[in-house]
Amino acid sequence: MDIQQIEALLKHTQDSFDIYKATGTETSRAHAQEQALQLARSLERPRDAILKLAYSPAIVMAVKVALDMKVFPILAEASSPVPLAKLAAAKPADPILVERILRVLVANSIVAEPAPCEYLPTALSKELTQRPSIGVLESLFCEFLPSFQKTPEFLEATNYRNPDDPLVAPLQYTHELGKKNGFTWLCENPLALSRFNSFMEGQRADRLHWGDWFPVDEQILDHPEITSETPLLVDIGAGRGHDLIGFRQRFPDATGKLILEDLSTVIDEVKGAQDLAAAKVDTQVFDFFNEVQPVQGARAYYFKNVMHDWSDEKAAIIFNNLKPAMKRGFSKIIMEEYILPDQNASSLPCTTDMAVMIFCSGLERTRQRWDNLLKANGLRALKYWVREGEGLGIIEAELAE
Ligand SMILES: C[S@@+](CC[C@H](N)C(=O)[O-])C[C@H]1O[C@@H](n2cnc3c(N)ncnc32)[C@H](O)[C@@H]1O
Repeated sequence: MDIQQIEALLKHTQDSFDIYKATGTETSRAHAQEQALQLARSLERPRDAILKLAYSPAIVMAVKVALDMKVFPILAEASSPVPLAKLAAAKPADPILVERILRVLVANSIVAEPAPCEYLPTALSKELTQRPSIGVLESLFCEFLPSFQKTPEFLEATNYRNPDDPLVAPLQYTHELGKKNGFTWLCENPLALSRFNSFMEGQRADRLHWGDWFPVDEQILDHPEITSETPLLVDIGAGRGHDLIGFRQRFPDATGKLILEDLSTVIDEVKGAQDLAAAKVDTQVFDFFNEVQPVQGARAYYFKNVMHDWSDEKAAIIFNNLKPAMKRGFSKIIMEEYILPDQNASSLPCTTDMAVMIFCSGLERTRQRWDNLLKANGLRALKYWVREGEGLGIIEAELAE
């Protein structure tokens, strides 16, 4: 260990924390966290680091078991330490097993243990009672993890060609799906679909809704042609409609309609899980590969985490089915996606890139790749609104001249 280097990191961490304390901004918080992480890593010995990294799936497994044993709702309500026997009685489960699972959670700050075999919630245990975060954990564990495990074998069998066919991805290889795309597979498995839709609700995590940082008034709302009948925002591949609901909360007086589009099975599931009427969100069944966009002349066609699911070839089909509905000089495409930096991308965009690769041969894109994709499809980027660190950016585009 290089003590001087560690001292320098310690100072950077202190400095960045001071800036966060003084400004309270999200950027400074993220920077301070990154510095603290680098400091912690510099104090770890390499072989220890590798050993812990390799064991990390066991932590996710322990959380999944704890979710199944209903540990978190009991802990979340506790105002005094909960004895092991009470947690074991919830399922019921063998107390020895519960103790072993909880040890993993305590060691990873997911649960606190103020006295032997007595437990209190942390912020993470409380979060694990919320549908979006449960969805993140369960969908990645149940639907994605088996394919992560098979991916090296798949890539060797395909001579390390970059996956670009959604029908030939690690998912099909793992589950022997034949020529079935991942979303069709989800639609045939109600529990998996429900987990996935919850996962998508949770995928934004604590990162800001675009309405909190993007100049929505100037770029979308302030236009003289918008009336109450105008489709204001069409969320294509919207999942549970959380982004539209968030938009309505932030802009309750916005003129025009909010429309949620997705596959019919998804819309049926969403209607059972979400109160769309309360947010005045309309629904429209739409298959973006096989139909032309039915909502004509919207102010904004919004895609979040949709294009990253698809290769350039598939994205072209989606754009070609959208363009006939766009009104030149009025309609915009708003894509909320990662805009990868050319170097030193942070961890979350990179692991998301692995997830979309195994699920449908998708990919996260750099700004250059986004630009090439838009130009190749008769579209023009108006502006790339880039977020630092792990934030999703906005690609604002329109029909090219
Ligand atoms: C990665 S999810 C993103 C969901 C949501 N936009 C979000 O960011 O939380 C992709 C969405 O695209 C939808 N989708 C997949 N294939 C589709 C198709 N052919 N037509 C319309 N929607 C589709 C899925 O059902 C899913 O809701």
